[in-house]
Amino acid sequence: MTRKSRRLAGHNRQNPQSRRRFRTVVRKRVKARSINAEDPARLVPRPSPLAPRPSSLQAVLVRAHCICYGEMHQKTVCNLKGYERANATMLRLLTAGESHGRTLLAVLDGFPAGLTIDTPRIDRELERRQGGYGRGGRQKLETDTVEILTGIWQGVTLGSPVTLAVANRDYKLERLKEVERPRPGHGDLTGAIKYLGSIRGVLERASARETAVRVAAGALAQQLLAQFGMNVFGYVVQLEQIATQPQPGTLDERRAVRDASPMYTLDPAADAAIVARVDQATEQGDTLGGIVEVEVHNPPFGLGSHAQWDRKLDGLLAQAVMSIQAIKGVEIGLGFEAARRPGSQVHDEIAYDPAQANQPGLGYTRRTNNAGGLEAGMTNGQPIVVRAAMKPISTLRRPLASINLATKQAETAAYERSDVCALAACSAIVENVVAFSVAQALIEKFGGDSLTEMRDRYEQFQVLARNR
Ligand SMILES: Cc1cc2nc3c(=O)[nH]c(=O)nc-3n(C[C@H](O)[C@H](O)[C@H](O)COP(=O)(O)O)c2cc1C
Repeated sequence: MTRKSRRLAGHNRQNPQSRRRFRTVVRKRVKARSINAEDPARLVPRPSPLAPRPSSLQAVLVRAHCICYGEMHQKTVCNLKGYERANATMLRLLTAGESHGRTLLAVLDGFPAGLTIDTPRIDRELERRQGGYGRGGRQKLETDTVEILTGIWQGVTLGSPVTLAVANRDYKLERLKEVERPRPGHGDLTGAIKYLGSIRGVLERASARETAVRVAAGALAQQLLAQFGMNVFGYVVQLEQIATQPQPGTLDERRAVRDASPMYTLDPAADAAIVARVDQATEQGDTLGGIVEVEVHNPPFGLGSHAQWDRKLDGLLAQAVMSIQAIKGVEIGLGFEAARRPGSQVHDEIAYDPAQANQPGLGYTRRTNNAGGLEAGMTNGQPIVVRAAMKPISTLRRPLASINLATKQAETAAYERSDVCALAACSAIVENVVAFSVAQALIEKFGGDSLTEMRDRYEQFQVLARNR
């Protein structure tokens, strides 16, 4: 034990002299570390953090090898056990809460320390999730705001789990009755049978109200991405049969057009027809869906990996977006359209422009971005483009045929206050869900105890990649 450690070990918090001594020792240690951080030698690749890690499967294979060949690889196996944990997704998200319960919660485990959280920006995303033409009465009752319950101190993330809460002002779960007539298009029938329980117990959790905290988590992720120059932007491209012509412009100009549109489109000329179609569906007791698109600007090269199926970012994005309520299709770049064209009209030819070498794309340019920024499951320096198809809302005011689960007799499906069209909200949800997945991939690559460490590794990678 060194003298310093002995002094630290004998540190008595109650004694002011001891406290002063402790602060001096800590200050000296921090200074010593920052001097190391400024050392140009740090640009030499460090062996461990960026090195590929063996997966659990690899650990199993090593064990099998040891058994077959009678080798004693205890140390390797022990290390691999450690890797098995490290190889799990570094940033994890769990949500909890019912549609009419007290609150919705999101726990983010593995969010890096050192990010100053802008809470009003999270609230703005929550407000966008509640907006758009065609929403039902519920949105008038709720004014969602986020409360950050854990993981921050003085507005800055600590690296410990961050808990986000969005309270339900329409809390009435205990007073609500069971639903007897399952609604087609919902999990009512299937969930009640699977869990051998009530329809209410299923619909309360299956409801898209859960996306409030997924949006909050994504809005926090967007703040992390912004530290690396990345912007995520979602909008509506089609309502039912009405396709829009998205206007070109800078990101700020397009954002202004979207935010002024009742359906979050980039085509003011199409908005009147869209509003009229929603009004018509409302009158008819029917519902509508459509297509939304999300762009991620300035991603660095190499988020995701070709090396294993469950590390491919296109697959991870598709899973995350498909898990959003009512999403029935996900496309990356050209998506299904790629299948209808010859290769010469699909693949994005590669060029190099040294003037752009300092951009996240490192100077590698493409005239087209049909791949949507992803090749072999990795970002290729072009914007990521994800599209998602939302089915029409399942609860119709002019109800569909169903049965009474108790009597098994034919009856019409139950009706609870419902949206006619939630497409605009859906674009805000997909935007934030995509942001979260990209933040996960960013932390995997450059992660992640602290923002400072991530920035350092990001810069280090840009230098190495530019000189590749
Ligand atoms: C933003 C948003 C709002 C929604 N609002 C409603 C609604 O008011 N009524 C309804 O029946 N379904 C609504 N849905 C759809 C259902 O939540 C969803 O269809 C249902 O949970 C079944 O899941 P699935 O469509 O993914 O199979 C909404 C979905 C989203 C994304």
